[in-house]
Amino acid sequence: MANIFARKPLDKVLKEMEQGQGLKRVLGPVGLTAMGIGAIIGTGIFVLIGKAARDVAGPALILSFVVAGLACIFSALCYAEFASMAPVAGSAYTYAYLTLGELMAWIIGWDLVLEYAVASCTVAHGWSKYFQDILLQFKIGIPIELTSAPFDIAKGQIFGTGSYIDLPAMVISCLVTLILVRGIRESAVFNAVMVVVKLAVVFFVIIAGIPHINPENWTNNFAPFGYGGVGFFGHLVWGDKNLATGLPAGVMAGAALIFFAYLGFDAVSTNAEEAKNPKRDLPIGIIGSLLICTVLYIVVAAVITGMVPFAEIEKEAPVAGVFAKVGMPWARLLVSVGALTGITSVLLVMMCGQPRIFLAMARDGLLPAKFFAAIHPTFQTPWKATLLTGFVVALGGSLLPLDILAELTNIGTLFAFVVVCAAVLVLRVKNPDAPRSFKAPLGLFCPIGGIILCLLLMFSLGWENWVRLFIWLALGLVVYFAYGIRHSRLQIQSNQTRS
Ligand code: ALA
Repeated sequence: MANIFARKPLDKVLKEMEQGQGLKRVLGPVGLTAMGIGAIIGTGIFVLIGKAARDVAGPALILSFVVAGLACIFSALCYAEFASMAPVAGSAYTYAYLTLGELMAWIIGWDLVLEYAVASCTVAHGWSKYFQDILLQFKIGIPIELTSAPFDIAKGQIFGTGSYIDLPAMVISCLVTLILVRGIRESAVFNAVMVVVKLAVVFFVIIAGIPHINPENWTNNFAPFGYGGVGFFGHLVWGDKNLATGLPAGVMAGAALIFFAYLGFDAVSTNAEEAKNPKRDLPIGIIGSLLICTVLYIVVAAVITGMVPFAEIEKEAPVAGVFAKVGMPWARLLVSVGALTGITSVLLVMMCGQPRIFLAMARDGLLPAKFFAAIHPTFQTPWKATLLTGFVVALGGSLLPLDILAELTNIGTLFAFVVVCAAVLVLRVKNPDAPRSFKAPLGLFCPIGGIILCLLLMFSLGWENWVRLFIWLALGLVVYFAYGIRHSRLQIQSNQTRS
């Protein structure tokens, strides 16, 4: 009889790690922090900020960034605590296996596909939009049939876009896949260069934008949609709707939307087995990258909403757009290039994380190891899983509409954060003396605060997202009961011990 709640012992996980599984240990604290920044700054701050400021929160978006940042910081401290105890590639999946048992681990591993692979599809979309924007600035156009996904959804209606496929999204996904197969060191160097470029552009936005701030843009109507926007399965329980869009609006609704901008710091934990000194450097990479980005985001939100009245902020290329509005149109190209670079590195880190989670699940027998745990003899990368991820991202990113992908990513990631915070709570109570080289401060405040804030943000997303999440998880359960439970190494070992 299988025990779906069987937990993987911590010492077993550590032993597996010490035996070395073939990945190259090349990343130090700076490389890991750069990986984090590489995964974080992208579509959220360069694209989503426009919709969030204009339609959802107004200048009070600054507070939305604070709320979403807090939810992420609590979760990041929990991730860091776990990463310092069990620095293996599986991230939240392994943490759940240690504390909440195999079924929950499977659910979270399956859920992480939403965070990594589906987020990569979303990001590939964003990349394509900025790429086309830059081409247009040079008066180069792509045939309409190759510019976007074939269909989209607005106000619950599906409609054709007149395009067959988003070719740039497909091409960039394939290129990133090849780099990732080639090797982690090459990927880290490529990532570091892109991080420098995008940080330079973010600093440019701040320094060049500050002289154009008119404080009246903040004070005239700071929170035009209020401070709430929290719903419960489609029913608004706190705050108002934006009458123009018919959707919940306010600081909390803004936080749920721009949460996407913070996503990625946890990807650092998936590189645990490529870190030189994981117990010390993973917490540095996770917390360091998030703190740097939180400060930058809050400042960028203040600058953008201070430069022009919130209602005039563009939705498509908001950061570039405000510079055009204050008489600096040349800055548009600069910001667009920075955005494109930023989004490329997000794609790189996200697509790097997914195969490493598959790898961890395959080692535990929950996925076929021959395929998902295959390490390339020369490049030392999980190449088959990387190619599969690339294939899925290339198809999803070029054929599915952006909004659905982005919202699925948010709810899936928030769910993963809730589970990681809960797992830290469980381990603090059940295994208080396990060696932790990093411990989230203030007792149980961080895990509890993380759970509450992430749940609040989950409820601020529309009910359709919950339905999609449940369908995805139900599909995962079918796969688990059809394959994972029968091949689980933990189950097989405990059956052997018993007989
Ligand atoms: N945080 C990442 C972005 O904004 C996912 O693109």
